Amino acid sequence: MKEFSRNERKRDKTVGFVPTMGFLHEGHLSLVKKSLEECDTTVMSIFVNPLQFGPNEDFEKYPRDLERDTALAAQSGVDVLFIPDAKEIYPSSLSVSMTAKQRTDVMCGASRPGHFDGVITVLSILFNLVQADRAYFGQKDAQQVAVVQGLVNSLMFPVEIVPVETVREQDGLAKSSRNVYLSPAERKQAPILYKALKEGEKSLSHLGTQETIKKMRDMINSSADGKIDYIEILKYPDLTPLVLNKGKVIIALAVQFDKARLIDNVIFTMK
Ligand code: PAJ
Repeated sequence: MKEFSRNERKRDKTVGFVPTMGFLHEGHLSLVKKSLEECDTTVMSIFVNPLQFGPNEDFEKYPRDLERDTALAAQSGVDVLFIPDAKEIYPSSLSVSMTAKQRTDVMCGASRPGHFDGVITVLSILFNLVQADRAYFGQKDAQQVAVVQGLVNSLMFPVEIVPVETVREQDGLAKSSRNVYLSPAERKQAPILYKALKEGEKSLSHLGTQETIKKMRDMINSSADGKIDYIEILKYPDLTPLVLNKGKVIIALAVQFDKARLIDNVIFTMK
């Protein structure tokens, strides 16, 4: 992988990188599309990173289908599909550990302790292997984008982080590899997440943070069986409390259904 990228760059070719955990859908492919538009060569990685899953999370059950993924990646124009083995990424115990210190005490950082430490560790390794000019990340995981931007700024990785808009189903549900674990009834309920977010966006300026969250909670509780993990309204990308109703804002939520934990968010500017 390193040698390939080194050669590309020697030939003055720019390299775009799309890191994924596979079970590809149109969300992943929209990152590929953006990379194809902006870079000469597009590398996609598929690696279900054990380090970013908690002990009681779905690492073992995370959906996997490399055959289908390989076909989709080829069709979508990916030049190099990099599928390392866990033993290649983590050949022995790591002699250093990484901690994401900012933007991790809220949202998924609060409910999934250690998750973002695992994300920044694997991305540091992948960035060093792929040596891309640009790396593409979905806004669906807005906290991941903010934390990874922090990683790149702090350690001065020579890679530009490019955020890409969330791709949704027709009914508004954000595409996710985990959607396959929704029961048919839950799948029908799941669009309420995005509806509540859009309602929150409309209400925030006149209702304020607490009332908006309450309204969203009521909407979700009255039409979905899932349990709300969090609904938070914060400044973006700082992920600090909203003091003035001004500037870039994120409304983010996580809902635990029986077998799938779904997250989604909207980001907008308040004047
Ligand atoms: P994964 O969940 O496979 O997602 C890979 C990339 O696809 C992430 O940048 C994610 O934000 C983006 N993505 C997922 N659903 C999307 C959607 N509906 N619209 C737009 N983009 C979407 O995120 C990870 O993997 C891992 O944490 C990883 C970065 C690979 C590190 O292990």
